[in-house]
Amino acid sequence: MKATQEKTDKTAFITGVTGQDGSYLSEFLLDKGYKVYGLIRRSSVDTTERIRDFMHHPKFELVEGDITDASCMNRLISGIQPDEVYNLAAMSHVGVSFDQPITTCQIDAVGPLNILEAIRQSSPHSRFYQASTSELFGDTTEAPQTELTTMTPNSPYAVAKLYAHQLVGLYRRAYGIFACAGILFNHESERRGEAFVTRKITKYVASLQSWMDNNSGFPVKDVDVLPLALGNIEAKRDWSHALDMVRGMWLMMQTDEPSDYVLGSGTAHTVREFLEIAFRTVGLDYKDYVIIDPKFYRPVDVNLLHADATRAKEVLGWEPTIGFGEMIDRMVQSDYGSVIECRA
Ligand code: GDD
Repeated sequence: MKATQEKTDKTAFITGVTGQDGSYLSEFLLDKGYKVYGLIRRSSVDTTERIRDFMHHPKFELVEGDITDASCMNRLISGIQPDEVYNLAAMSHVGVSFDQPITTCQIDAVGPLNILEAIRQSSPHSRFYQASTSELFGDTTEAPQTELTTMTPNSPYAVAKLYAHQLVGLYRRAYGIFACAGILFNHESERRGEAFVTRKITKYVASLQSWMDNNSGFPVKDVDVLPLALGNIEAKRDWSHALDMVRGMWLMMQTDEPSDYVLGSGTAHTVREFLEIAFRTVGLDYKDYVIIDPKFYRPVDVNLLHADATRAKEVLGWEPTIGFGEMIDRMVQSDYGSVIECRA
């Protein structure tokens, strides 16, 4: 399928708009001419850092609400009558879901149900995108993973996401709603949250470079800098850049028939490999700085996520454009830029 260059007059409603994916998707859709409504939760702290560049765009509007409140979702979706709804809101940290399983269930399972019900009752023409995840595969021994691979989720997060994933198919079959699920493998960027392993690493690496700018020689762990404490660095993930992923989300919503698609790079790397490359960008060896702290281990982890995105390539013409090395480089450079900015 070819992406059209013409401007559209469609309307999109994005939940999780202040997150990594929500901010990139908003920019992508605004560029296409969409009117974008972004859902934001009421909060006493400012959560708009990632959307500051386009918050005042004439075709962007923030609306307050919460996906766990069914009446709120009904009111908003019924009022906006969006052509496309992208549900990107989530409690997205797998480790945290073990400590907050009920909150996770309310946001990641009941939240999408509230939205689908609002669409069914008040705006059945709206197309729906659900942010499903490779975490659904969990403990599976099959690899690489396709849309048909057995799903054996291994965390409260993934169990909640499986419920939502199954709802997407159900609402398609039962009510004829145009609903798609993007089974997205890990995706990172300069806007990635700092609690995820990739950003935790790139921020640390940038701080080492900053130390070297101001001192001669290399920083010594425990003398000049604190160590970087991590958990399971043997886990393998299939990492892509978030910019490629949001293009894939949109492509899914432009097809004639709604369906589910795996999006991923097709290459799996360990966290250790990520470390090696990230530290190499500043000429250092991760082994001199990293310590393993059991605090960062999860009760159970997912050992291998490896995407087979053949279907997305064949049906949507989707392929990632930013490779693993380039992505790491961009993240380190961006974090380094922020350190320099703070220094100025
Ligand atoms: N967060 C974190 N912090 N993870 C660590 C650490 C650490 O200090 N040390 C090792 N890890 C390991 C985790 O145990 C996991 O195996 C791997 O690094 C990746 O962890 P995250 O970056 O937290 O991502 P994730 O794979 O658990 O989940 C992400 O990707 C999913 C898609 O596969 C999230 O974005 C999910 O929301 C998403 O669904």
